[in-house]
Amino acid sequence: MEYKFSDKVSGLKASAIREILKFTSDPEVISFAAGNPAPEAFPTERIAEISAELLGSDPILALQYSVTEGYGPLREYLKTWMTSKGCFHSEFDDLIVTSGGQQANELSCKVLLNEGDTLLCESPSFIGSLNAFRSYNVNLVGIEMDDDGINLEALENALKTEKNVKVLYLIPNFQNPTGRTMSQAKRKAVYELACRYDFMILEDDPYGELRFSGENVPTIKSLDTEGRVIYSSTFSKLISPGFRTGFVSAPAPIVQKIIVCKQVSDVHSNIWAQVICHRFMTSVNVPEHFEKLRAIYRNKCGLMCSYIENGFSDQVRYIKPDGGLFIWCTLPDGCDMNEFCTKAVRDYKIAVVPGNSFSIREDEKSHSFRLNYSTPTNEQISTGMEILARMTKEMLG
Ligand SMILES: Cc1ncc(COP(=O)(O)O)c(C=O)c1O
Repeated sequence: MEYKFSDKVSGLKASAIREILKFTSDPEVISFAAGNPAPEAFPTERIAEISAELLGSDPILALQYSVTEGYGPLREYLKTWMTSKGCFHSEFDDLIVTSGGQQANELSCKVLLNEGDTLLCESPSFIGSLNAFRSYNVNLVGIEMDDDGINLEALENALKTEKNVKVLYLIPNFQNPTGRTMSQAKRKAVYELACRYDFMILEDDPYGELRFSGENVPTIKSLDTEGRVIYSSTFSKLISPGFRTGFVSAPAPIVQKIIVCKQVSDVHSNIWAQVICHRFMTSVNVPEHFEKLRAIYRNKCGLMCSYIENGFSDQVRYIKPDGGLFIWCTLPDGCDMNEFCTKAVRDYKIAVVPGNSFSIREDEKSHSFRLNYSTPTNEQISTGMEILARMTKEMLG
């Protein structure tokens, strides 16, 4: 039987990461390809306690249908927390709980863009969001990045030449995949461009709390006076991605539309997980919990970077992140990245993700690959990075 898929989805393909991850079912393969939180970062004991209490004392709350905008006490908690970070402006913002950051970004695109409208984003960018945007047939345009974030000249050029630019999608903190952080000056400049050229900014911030070095940079949302910024974040990297609990803080009319769209998509996010998130955040020492996560990632990132600095061929450049989960490595021009990554996993049993998985255009060449340090153990980082170092030296000298 040949199935005729809708025009909307027939062009969508499984991501290259999934192809690489197939190899990782081989127990001999050390994977630096995933983006999962560290297994030791999960507060399993406290979650077990809260779960038992909840199911013992309030089972119907956790098991019954709930409201689309999210569990009331969690929304109130988030509004207060986001206000303290400058990410919720009570004069014009509202907040909705979503099924992870993924749904937050997808629904933001859905409510604002028609087919053919332009959505600008950093190049490279997070594949989950790119695929969500692609599913709406928008004109997706990637803007090159500098070390301190999106290139402003290229951005302004695109604003002048692309039609119907409605949204700029940014991951300002420890960007996935490059690990880069956008400077404060650039955040201000980007916001000014949004006001001047009349477009919205979708600020995706799943990693902001995971800064383990350097100074905190205020969010773009905190600069918002005109209601131009949609801020999305998630508990995925702070408590558990399995909870599928994220949120959007945005101008009230936008949140209202997101609520209507979410109703037709999944009615509401998992209420059990929302209650656990709320009880967790209001019963633990949150700064201590976040500091524990930062310590885990600081150590793992440091370990991985030490192998790059001391063992990799000098021809490999890399970006040392101040937080988040990823390191971006770049080989000299002319290296075939797909060949490099395939060789790494097939011959050396090390899985990394080729940079073109994060490219905006499919024909774009990339000389980079993404390494993840959160998921592997320290032993796996040491063993795997020694092998990868040897491989880069054999290939590049
Ligand atoms: C930049 C970025 N945005 C959004 C998400 C999705 O988060 P969630 O798992 O909460 O849907 C991720 C997940 O890795 C991400 O890296």
